[in-house]
Amino acid sequence: MSFTLSRRGFIGTAAALSAASGVARAASTPAAAPGPVNPLVKQRADAQVFRHDDGFYYLTGSVPEYDRLVLRRSKTIAGLTTASEAVLWRHEASGPRSGFLWAPELHQIDGKWIMYFAAGPSGGGDDVFRIRTYAVVCDGTDPMTGKWSLLGELQTPWDSFNLDSTVFTHNGVRYMAWAQREQGIETNSNLYIAKLESPLKLGKATRLTMPTLDWEIRGYKVAEAPALLHRNGRLFMTYSASATDARYCLGMLSADENADLLDAKSWTKSPQPVFVTNSATSVYGPGHNSFTVDEKGRDVLVYHGRDYEAIQGDPLFNPDRHTRVQRLYYTADGTPDFGVPVGNGPLPERFISSTDPTRLMAHDGTQLVAGNPSLAQTQFRQLPGRAGARSVMLSPILMPDHYLVAGQDGSLTLQQDSKSADFALRSQFVRFDEKTLHAARFVSIAVPGKAIGLSADRLTLVASRDSSAWWHID
Ligand code: AHR
Repeated sequence: MSFTLSRRGFIGTAAALSAASGVARAASTPAAAPGPVNPLVKQRADAQVFRHDDGFYYLTGSVPEYDRLVLRRSKTIAGLTTASEAVLWRHEASGPRSGFLWAPELHQIDGKWIMYFAAGPSGGGDDVFRIRTYAVVCDGTDPMTGKWSLLGELQTPWDSFNLDSTVFTHNGVRYMAWAQREQGIETNSNLYIAKLESPLKLGKATRLTMPTLDWEIRGYKVAEAPALLHRNGRLFMTYSASATDARYCLGMLSADENADLLDAKSWTKSPQPVFVTNSATSVYGPGHNSFTVDEKGRDVLVYHGRDYEAIQGDPLFNPDRHTRVQRLYYTADGTPDFGVPVGNGPLPERFISSTDPTRLMAHDGTQLVAGNPSLAQTQFRQLPGRAGARSVMLSPILMPDHYLVAGQDGSLTLQQDSKSADFALRSQFVRFDEKTLHAARFVSIAVPGKAIGLSADRLTLVASRDSSAWWHID
C-alpha cells in the first residue's frame, strides 16, 4: 500500500498523534539547542578541548599550515564549530621556532595562561624535524585577548625530538607527560612522565611505554599525544600510535589512582588499541585525543580523524584531520569504552528500555534487537524527517544508509532508502521527549497509535501508551 503524504494529511496525523498520546505538543521534539555535529571543526588536528571554570569551552589544535597558535572559545561544545578564532602567536621569521608549530595545549598554571607547543626550524631538509617543546605565556587573564610572548624551551632530559606535552594535576602534584625520542632506542618516540616543577622545568623522567606492538609500529614506531582521564579509581592515559594515516590509533595505559605515577610498573598497557579506523562510519586514523565533559557533565572524547582513507603524499601535510567529538562510555568495571568513531553528522544517542534497563535499541546487522551487543551497535543517529518539522528518522551509526522502518504488521526493520513513497512514510517518526525523565518516545507516522517499543527481546511497534514505548536517552 503506498501513501501520498499531503501536508494536510500530515498535519492531521500529527494532531491525532498528539491527542492520542495525551502528550502536550510542548513535549514533542524539543527545540533544544542543536548538539555538536561531526566534524566539529574542520582541519584542526591534535585538538585540545576543555571546559574551564569560567564555564567556557576552549579549543586549540594544529592548523594545516603549522604556522600559528590559535584558540577558540564557546559556551557550548557545538558553538566551537562557528566560534571566532584568535591567533595567539605565529612562528618566528628565523631560528628554532620558525618552522612547524605542532599540537598546542593551553593550561592555567599558578594563575597564568601558558600554551605548550612543539616547534622546529624552517631551514629545510631534515632540520625542519628538529622539533622541541616551547611555551608562550599570556600577559592577562583572558587568553583570547591577552598578549602572548615566548616563555622559553621546556628542559627535557635529552636534547632530542620531543612533542605533544600535556599537563595534569593528581593528588595535588602537577605532572607533565610527553613524547620524545630517546638515544639508543630505535623508535620515533616513546612516552614519558615527570613532575612539572615549574612551567619549563621537569623532575626526574620515567619512560612509560615504547612502541613495540604491531599496531604501534605501522609506518613509524610511535607513541605520542598522551591524554589523561581520572575516573572510577584509576588514571587512564591514552596515546596515539603508528603513522598519521589510517593506521593511526589510540592505545591506553592505566594505573590505580593511589599508585606512584612515576613508577613505570604502576602502569598497565592495553594489549589492543582502544580506538581505531572504522570504514563503516568512514573515520580514518582517529587519534591525538583529549577529554572533556559536555554541558550535562558527561564525558566526551575529543580526537581528530579523516573521512576518507586514501591520502596523496605525506599524511603529515594532508589538511583533513578534522576535530571530532563523541560521548565516552564505560564498561561494567569502569574502564572507558571508546566504541568506534561515530562518523559525520549529529552525535548519536543510545536508547535504554524504560521497562528493562538491560535492553537497549540495538541491531545485529540488519536485524533490530533489544539488547546490548556492543556500544557501537546501540548508537543511533536521529536525522530530520521528511514528513514535516516534527518528524525524525533513526539510523544506526554502523549502517548509515539504513533506517528504522515501521511495518503495517507491527514489525520494525532496518531498510535502505528505496526512494518509494512507502519508505518515505514508514521511516518517519515523531519524537516526544519527557525531559524530567530524560526519556523519549518515537511514535510512528505511518501506523497511527503505535510507537517503537519492546516485546521480549525484540524491537516492535507497541501502543503509544505502552510503558515500553518510553526509552531513556543515554
Ligand atoms: O600534527 C602534528 C604532529 O603530528 C603532532 O604533534 C603529532 O601528534 C602528530 O603525529
